Amino acid sequence: MPARGGPASYSLPFSHAFIKSCSTAKYQIRLSCLSEHPRSILIKAMHKIPMYKASAYSAASATSSLASTTIARRDPTEPDVQIEILFCGVCHSDLHQVRDEWSAVMPTVYPCVPGHEIVGRVTKVGSAVTKFKPGDLAAVGCMVDSDRTCAECQEGLEQFCRNMTLTYNFPDKHLGGVTYGGYSDSIVVDERFVMRVPSNLNLAGAAPLLCAGITTYSPMRHWGVTQGKKVGVVGLGGLGHMGVKFAHALGAHVVVFTTSPNKKDDAIRLGADEVVISRNSNEMKKQAGSFDFILDAVSADHDINAYIELLRRDGNITLVGAPEKPLSVAAFGLLFGRRSLSGSPIGGLPETQEMLDFCGTHNITADVEVIPIQKVNEAYDRLLKSDVKYRFSIDLASLKSE
Ligand SMILES: NC(=O)c1ccc[n+]([C@@H]2O[C@H](COP(=O)([O-])OP(=O)(O)OC[C@H]3O[C@@H](n4cnc5c(N)ncnc54)[C@H](OP(=O)(O)O)[C@@H]3O)[C@@H](O)[C@H]2O)c1
Ligand SMILES: [Zn+2]
Ligand SMILES: [Zn+2]
Repeated sequence: MPARGGPASYSLPFSHAFIKSCSTAKYQIRLSCLSEHPRSILIKAMHKIPMYKASAYSAASATSSLASTTIARRDPTEPDVQIEILFCGVCHSDLHQVRDEWSAVMPTVYPCVPGHEIVGRVTKVGSAVTKFKPGDLAAVGCMVDSDRTCAECQEGLEQFCRNMTLTYNFPDKHLGGVTYGGYSDSIVVDERFVMRVPSNLNLAGAAPLLCAGITTYSPMRHWGVTQGKKVGVVGLGGLGHMGVKFAHALGAHVVVFTTSPNKKDDAIRLGADEVVISRNSNEMKKQAGSFDFILDAVSADHDINAYIELLRRDGNITLVGAPEKPLSVAAFGLLFGRRSLSGSPIGGLPETQEMLDFCGTHNITADVEVIPIQKVNEAYDRLLKSDVKYRFSIDLASLKSE
């Protein structure tokens, strides 16, 4: 996170300037490619690529509602899988991005088609595809490409690749412009970035695993959440409720911190052993110095110092929430107790598949409210009021009636 009030001092694994350039002419996008991407990518982008039209919902500006549109998708090339999208989860990141709340880090290029929690059925495969055939279930998360050659990619940590391509609002190496996400009836993705969905999982509930699932599973695995550990989950939204399910399945003692007293019973049902109403300072004090690990999944400004105080010696709090404004951290909270504060973005391809398989074994899916795409703007308003139990999942069949 950058210093409060200072200029953006983020170190990004990708080029801010490049994304910005995409908001202007296509020609300029290609010039940017020339200076920032391998020549082979540029050549591909310059050739006329066979495309088809897909239906989608897009936002035209930071203040517009999402509305029906058509977008271009490339015809599947040799390594590509074409997927008919059945369900797409609504992540709070979609809302941040559509409203350009991350303009300092990832400015939004309009029109923006969000959506990175995608589950569907394969409709067509390229000639080099080996993992999928038409009719298979398939899933796509937050990334659709990376360079595959860097140290991070070699280790299966594509989420840290400096040349990865996010599923939406990222330079599209094939068609120019930016990538378009899952609020659409189809998508075309290199099979390497397509996941297998365990057949026992409910599809509407499986979609959110592709972001909310992996984003909470990955740091819990990294920080050794297991039996005997005391784990806190802050914010019982889409990410938070998945965090509770995973921490419980991994055998930890789970405490949910919520600002919404009406979520108490749900928290217990989802796997929490205790629930703390975070606005009650007495309840908070009782938990002081007792946590091995806390996952902070809050989407808005909040006092993280109150949670740092709850960590035991060498405890860690990991931020997965990405609020618009920088958080303020008191140094002494970290110094005393040698506590650490870290962040974690999504997860790599092998771990995403591992998480899906773990969900298959433990029969874990998100608790979803299935909505037609026509209700997505209302869903955004409700997200802002923390009024979702616990993930909206868009049924893309609704797009056919547009
Ligand atoms: N790190 C990553 O790779 C990654 C991936 C996906 C999403 N994210 C980010 O993670 C955050 C959460 O996403 P989500 O989809 O889970 O959002 P969400 O469903 O809207 O949940 C956020 C939860 O935060 C709590 N909250 C909201 N406003 C608050 C406030 N002012 N003070 C304290 N608590 C508040 C609420 O929980 P209670 O009602 O229980 O208090 C709310 O349900 C977003 O910022 C999103 O962009 C990051
Ligand atoms: Zn997300
Ligand atoms: Zn890489």
